Amino acid sequence: MAQSDTLTKDKQEIIEEARRRRTFAIISHPDAGKTTLTEKLLLYGGAIHEAGSIRQRKANRYAASDWMAIEKDRGISVTSSVLRFEKDNIKFNLLDTPGHKDFSEDTLRTLVAADTALMVIDVAKGVEEQTEKLYEVCKMREIPIITFVNKCDRPGLEPLEVISNVENQLGIEPIPASWPLGYGKDFQGIYDLIGKQLHLQKKEEHGAKKAETKVYGLEEGLEKAVLSDHEKEKFREEVMLTEDMMAMMDEEAFMNGKCTPVFFGSALNNFGLDVFLNYFGELAHPPQEYRDAEGKSRKLDDGFSGFVFKMQANMNPDHRDCAAFIRITSGKFERGLEVTESNTGRKVKMSTPHTLMGDERHILEEAYPGDVVSLFNPGSFRIGTTIYSDDPVRFDVIPLFTPEHFMKASSKDPFKRKQLREGLKQLAEEGVVHVFEVPRGVGNELLLGTVGALQFDVVKHRMQTEYNTELHMSAVSYHAARWLDEDEEIIEKLENSYSTHVTKDMEGHPIVLFDSAYAISQAEEKVGAENLYKFKQN
Ligand code: G4P
Repeated sequence: MAQSDTLTKDKQEIIEEARRRRTFAIISHPDAGKTTLTEKLLLYGGAIHEAGSIRQRKANRYAASDWMAIEKDRGISVTSSVLRFEKDNIKFNLLDTPGHKDFSEDTLRTLVAADTALMVIDVAKGVEEQTEKLYEVCKMREIPIITFVNKCDRPGLEPLEVISNVENQLGIEPIPASWPLGYGKDFQGIYDLIGKQLHLQKKEEHGAKKAETKVYGLEEGLEKAVLSDHEKEKFREEVMLTEDMMAMMDEEAFMNGKCTPVFFGSALNNFGLDVFLNYFGELAHPPQEYRDAEGKSRKLDDGFSGFVFKMQANMNPDHRDCAAFIRITSGKFERGLEVTESNTGRKVKMSTPHTLMGDERHILEEAYPGDVVSLFNPGSFRIGTTIYSDDPVRFDVIPLFTPEHFMKASSKDPFKRKQLREGLKQLAEEGVVHVFEVPRGVGNELLLGTVGALQFDVVKHRMQTEYNTELHMSAVSYHAARWLDEDEEIIEKLENSYSTHVTKDMEGHPIVLFDSAYAISQAEEKVGAENLYKFKQN
């Protein structure tokens, strides 16, 4: 075969493999059922045969993923991993994000590596705070969002109320894709609004196995359902109102995250999961092309490239272990591939790449766009590092997220000022914390900023164990912050205001800190809200 034919064949293979991938992350508020749903997706996706192990793992965090003392102390997961399953020839990569309420920048960054977001909402609570924050990142990235309304077996909002709650809280247009038959204790199945079939379901003990399901046409199913005539009539009306909405959905609006198909169900009882998973693979986006730092699209079948979206230190407390998670953006990855790190030009051989299924590590032989590989102890890799094999490229896709919690930090030992700076600078480079000069500060203190409050414990712990520096932290009264451009006029205006404080992070990015919500609105008036960034692309 001529060389050009081989090349075309290789490119075709990459495109075909990429098309089969669905890389997604779940956005939800703690307790909405993310862990339960994850497990049930694995059950319905055929990756596990009996549910129980992942929730077990969550409950047994102490034993299962004991890579970090903080995680042990609090019994929660601080890190993310990747879960893979394959159904109907589609390969799903679920980028697992930590589910604790003290969530971190990692959670937000993971969304940059996902092509689709699965939004899980508790039917009793509607859209909650953390979902809103995560939604903002999806909105910035304009990625498709698919919604699953969970816990329909419990008393909660009525389906139409959930729909308007999503619309009002997030400003996204919800489009019903399935509809619950009976709510709360009467919940007995799901009407598939796309396939126009009624799925009557029966609970399995603890929801460990797939729910027994019988599929009917609407009227035939309603005859078998145990509901009052009044409830049946109401159900018919709701179905009539919503049944054509999916067929009329504006594809482009969906792709850009302006509208979201909404499925109902109960992850615990396995209701609505078959209908959901039938359509999820079709609706979720295959790998997209990422734009490089010059704004040019990197084609999926170009030479191998990827970027680091997550670093995880100390996975194994016996070694100073560190993993870099790389989202593949183009080309084919094969074990042993030599890549170049775009910032330094350094060459790295990817000889022991892994894919993670929960806590287990599997050596990965090959991977395609959309897949995530993790490399252990990759030396100088940082969050955002680009790697490539042949044609050079540099991505700049990880934004700066605005810290929401602030603390002043100094070293308890005054002779360790240098270690303090160096250690914190390193942790900032790893993306663990934002480090700023204290506005009008006295030099031996630094200002720390994080997205989640738990992150301060991570910083304290790592400074102690890795840099032998005990931190003293004290509270500060900053309420919020916004990143700025290097615009002298804007910076001067903000510096002259009493309730705003301008400072810089260790890399020189200017940021303004506010004393109160009122100070934000004042600053918005003064310099324009469009110049105060919640997320900033470097
Ligand atoms: P998270 O990862 O989003 O934090 O939520 P998780 O799956 O851990 O679920 C939180 C709680 O909600 C769990 O109860 C779980 O069993 C329950 N849950 C999840 N899906 C459903 C559902 O469809 N219906 C009902 N009724 N409950 C659901 P828990 O009491 O905290 O834990 P456990 O005692 O069940 O282990």
